[in-house]
Amino acid sequence: MNSYTLLDSGHGRKLERFGTVTLDRPCAQAVWNPSKPKLWNDADASFSRKDGLQWTGRDALPDAWEADIEGVRMKLATTDFGHLGVFPETRALWRWIRETLQAQSKARKEPLQFLNLFAYSGGATLAAAQSGAHCCHVDASKGMVAWARENAALNKLEDHPIRWIVDDVNKFLQGEARRGRRYDDVLLDPPSFGRGKSGELYKIEQALMETLQLVKDVLSDQPAFVYLTSHTPGFTPTVLSNLLQQLLPKGTLEQGEMLLEGEADVLDVPSGTWSRWSG
Ligand SMILES: C[S@@+](CC[C@H](N)C(=O)[O-])C[C@H]1O[C@@H](n2cnc3c(N)ncnc32)[C@H](O)[C@@H]1O
Repeated sequence: MNSYTLLDSGHGRKLERFGTVTLDRPCAQAVWNPSKPKLWNDADASFSRKDGLQWTGRDALPDAWEADIEGVRMKLATTDFGHLGVFPETRALWRWIRETLQAQSKARKEPLQFLNLFAYSGGATLAAAQSGAHCCHVDASKGMVAWARENAALNKLEDHPIRWIVDDVNKFLQGEARRGRRYDDVLLDPPSFGRGKSGELYKIEQALMETLQLVKDVLSDQPAFVYLTSHTPGFTPTVLSNLLQQLLPKGTLEQGEMLLEGEADVLDVPSGTWSRWSG
């Protein structure tokens, strides 16, 4: 069940189908030529950052609609920033998390404790919940946490043990470390620049080391993985691995490029980086 498709990319743009809606949006890294130029006429709406932030054709779109993305049903809506409530390049990660937690939970008596930091609209949280793990979902935006809870209901996971936390990540982790709460698996997708619940400034260059130190402080006695992703220029897979290697105990490190992938005849679009540590 997968109703997201990358249809094409090129000339600094990407063409994607989200359920019943086809959108043409900016994609700076797609510097090549489109492979299927005719398809672009199918776009229901397009977004541009050229003369300020601007949608064309937005009025004809539904206010909100739903799509199944990698086994998770998501509510989608166009935002003024050109976002939709999902970053589809993370869907391979959702699959990995669901499958890895399923395998890990077989070897454990107690449910796994999964922590999702900068968790946005909850795709990864819900993939983890589908595996049976107990989840903690943290984001500074009250609106995004409410959106993630709507997604939980769409997936009939509203009664699953998920703690929904609106807080600044570093403040939250300090509190969890003090309270003695521990997690087996942690995912974090820090923004280049963000704001905590009370307006605290989060700049990745300064704040990420502290975040990772605090993640270490809340790891359980048998930690399974810490998965770090980034969309910040310069934060290459090696940068992420170096950070994890310095801060976490000895373990296995893997790294890679996050790719937005389509059918076999569509070019992959690099859309971020990842590194993961397994204990
Ligand atoms: C790039 S999005 C994360 C995307 C998400 N991981 C996904 O794959 O769908 C960044 C998120 O971090 C949140 N955020 C930014 N600064 C924060 C902070 N200091 N503490 C907690 N959340 C923060 C934003 O509200 C936003 O939802």
